Amino acid sequence: MANKGPKVSRRTALGMLVGGAAAGVAGAKIGLSTSSGGDLAAIAADRGLTGDQAEGALRTFVPGGEFDEYLIFASGGHSGQMLVYGVPSMRLLKVIAVFSPDAWQGYGYGTDQGDTVLDEGSDPAKSDALRWGDTHHPAISETEGQYDGRFLYINDRANGRIAMVDLRDFKTKQIFDVPNLQTSHGGCFVTPNSEYVHISSMSPSPVTDSGYAPLSRYAEDFRGFSTWLAIDQETGRFVKDKSFQIELPPYTQDLADAGKLSSYGLGFINSYNTEMATGGVMHDGQIDPAAALEATATKNDYDFLHIIDWQKAEAFVGSGSGVRTLNGMRVIPLEAASGEGILHFAPEPRNPHGVDVNPTGDYICIAGKLDPNASVYSIDRIKAAIDSQDYEGTDPFGVPILELSSVLEAQVELGAGPLHTQFDDKGYAYTSLFVDSAIAKWSLGPKAGHDADAFQLVETLPIHYNIGHLVTAEGDTVSPDGRYMVALNKWSIDRFPPVGTLHPQNFQLVDLTSEPMTLLSDTPIGVGEPHYVQMIRRDKLKGVLRLYEPGTDPMTWSRSPFAIAAGEERIERQGQDLHVYMSAMRSHYTPDVVEARLGDTVRFHITNIEQTPDATHGFAIPGLNIQASIDPGEVVNIDLTLDRAGTFAMYCTEFCSALHLEMQGWLQVAP
Ligand code: CUA
Repeated sequence: MANKGPKVSRRTALGMLVGGAAAGVAGAKIGLSTSSGGDLAAIAADRGLTGDQAEGALRTFVPGGEFDEYLIFASGGHSGQMLVYGVPSMRLLKVIAVFSPDAWQGYGYGTDQGDTVLDEGSDPAKSDALRWGDTHHPAISETEGQYDGRFLYINDRANGRIAMVDLRDFKTKQIFDVPNLQTSHGGCFVTPNSEYVHISSMSPSPVTDSGYAPLSRYAEDFRGFSTWLAIDQETGRFVKDKSFQIELPPYTQDLADAGKLSSYGLGFINSYNTEMATGGVMHDGQIDPAAALEATATKNDYDFLHIIDWQKAEAFVGSGSGVRTLNGMRVIPLEAASGEGILHFAPEPRNPHGVDVNPTGDYICIAGKLDPNASVYSIDRIKAAIDSQDYEGTDPFGVPILELSSVLEAQVELGAGPLHTQFDDKGYAYTSLFVDSAIAKWSLGPKAGHDADAFQLVETLPIHYNIGHLVTAEGDTVSPDGRYMVALNKWSIDRFPPVGTLHPQNFQLVDLTSEPMTLLSDTPIGVGEPHYVQMIRRDKLKGVLRLYEPGTDPMTWSRSPFAIAAGEERIERQGQDLHVYMSAMRSHYTPDVVEARLGDTVRFHITNIEQTPDATHGFAIPGLNIQASIDPGEVVNIDLTLDRAGTFAMYCTEFCSALHLEMQGWLQVAP
């Protein structure tokens, strides 16, 4: 089955030409002449490029003024941010500040917008003013199972939080610190009509009043939670009052995915550590390696695929009875979830990683991590087993376990360390193989258009190196495009010049239109540990703005009460409060000198009165930790209590004009 033979280059006209077959006529053959009279084949030969490499360069180059066909939204890992790349160019277009401050965007350095988002996204009961996160799983809002380009949600693996990025202005508008969640790994997805954004726990939390419980009471006092956050369809914000959680046993809930089409209305979560091991390798000064979690959490042959009927859960919550409130969140107790048919388990080979639903919703693909197989469950079989109560028993918490042989459709041997699966438009699945550093392409079954060749490995592509997630174009939707795939590799080793001991990671772009698959490019990622990405057709981002209406507060999308027009600048004193209504435009602030007194609170209300796209101004007060970025039309507010006398230079941090250096002023703080 495996096609592991030597990789055969596609013999395209260009590949042959730059390979040297007809050097000197490449330009003419592809209808190009270069202004320097250059010969493309000779250039490739001169640079020592193979035909495949030269073809990769030409297939991915996007000239200035022309745009990439796709964008990928990549988590920035523990940088806390989000990265936006163009595909196929693989050029970084933007870093969006999410969970960590970012000076360029004026996020978290004294402005109302960034500071408010960061502060409100940090539940004081959990932690004071968190200033980092570990972005992991982006999920673009969907309509009828298609990315609709309105909003993007991304979880904080470290702190059990989730953020909303508004895809009109690519700014983070809300961070929600999810009650009862301590950490969250991969349990983030949106339902097909953005009814809910799902986020589940990874490490279970104690549900005691004090928040403490001894690990010896793990089974009794710790619980996981599956969270269904309702979203406001206008603003994209989370609506806590309409959201709910489902209590889960204290297993380690891992990756998750939404059912779609055939499986619409369901959610799937993988789990491991159904052993409920808690580690503890040191006892009385003695080290016992056998007690390590990697040994004790891998004893069971099977863990549990969680199958959640969120429509039943929604109805149960709506009925009101039997619902608890825990830390301000409505919770369906575990007994109710298992008794009302909201929660079922199916055995899955031990310690699996990814669970991915194919585009038709018929197949749920589970990657083995410790098992060389992808295990494919069929939604028809799952529904039939639930209807006939085809159980092999219950878990210790009373959750019914479906009979494995009744729900498992196929197992496909792929290679070592399968982690995640993505899909194309031709019924093929692509699974990352961490241990093998490869991607396996394999066929799905009859419901995805494969019959005689169902569930077979087609080929594997070597990857450099240690691939985690991977993404195909529109790969999480009901209609993937195929075309491109990006491998998200944890290690780059020898692929880039040495830049110190902390190495960049490596995104590799793969062409899915060729057989075999072709590697097109490597892209070093020198930011955090990018974890998962989604790839959306750029033309679906219909709402993207290039310019705000004059006086806009981006948090409300309405005119800021502090907006001013040219000529309305003023300073108003109200007791100790000094309101400064300031305008910014090339190349000056008005007013540019602010006279204040020690103990005052200066409240800057700065309107960028430009209406030219790109004419962003900065506003920095060195020494006072203030840095704002004010886009054309935008209003930014800064409250600054003056506890130090001095004369502080203010300046514009954006190189906005020829007289950018003249765009400065003074904040006078008289003793
Ligand atoms: Cu405004 Cu530089």
